Amino acid sequence: MIIALDGPSAAGKGTLARRLAGHYRLALLDTGLIYRAVAARTLADDSDLPERERAIAAARSLRADDLARPGLREEGVGAMASKVAAIPEVRLHLVDFQKNFAKHPPDGKAGAILDGRDIGTVICPNADVKIFLTASEEARAERRFQELRTGGSDTIKARVLADMRERDARDSARSAAPLVPAADAFVLDTTALSADQVFDRVVAHVDAVRATRNS
Ligand code: DC
Repeated sequence: MIIALDGPSAAGKGTLARRLAGHYRLALLDTGLIYRAVAARTLADDSDLPERERAIAAARSLRADDLARPGLREEGVGAMASKVAAIPEVRLHLVDFQKNFAKHPPDGKAGAILDGRDIGTVICPNADVKIFLTASEEARAERRFQELRTGGSDTIKARVLADMRERDARDSARSAAPLVPAADAFVLDTTALSADQVFDRVVAHVDAVRATRNS
């Protein structure tokens, strides 16, 4: 079984993906981490090349080890990830790795869940289940703000909201694989839902899809 999970930042994809992977015993790939790893390498490259060229070179030579670099979750890396993700050549270099993960899930797993922005539309258009999580900007900014505060950051909420707006606008407006729900995605607005409620609703949907397939 392949599950494609897409949506904007801080909609709850990460938490849901981990729980679904455990529940259905699926291999999990956080594809945002791939773009963050390219961003971190681009930022660390102090050559005179233009940013675009540095990003393409970073994507071309990305290794699995790069996904374990420290600091990938930082806000500055996230903002840069959104910029490098808009470059078609960068995306092109990363497609095979993601498709291969879905086709041959590691650790002997029988299926995979991939979370990102274009999984249901570009990476796994034939996924068994497609989910698109969303939530109001305010709810997502509040969640991200609380996460950052828990992590020791002294950022202010207005700043988190402004950064999130900028990133979502870039992710949605880009011409290469923009953030849009697949036509056949199960769209769930998590604004007023707890993590448990989100999980229960998605599991009910996945089980219903599987029951229809098996009947
Ligand atoms: O989910 P995240 O915040 O870790 O993602 C970081 C950036 O990477 C996000 O702003 C857009 C980009 N991204 C993408 O373009 N396609 C994906 N499948 C995943 C992430």
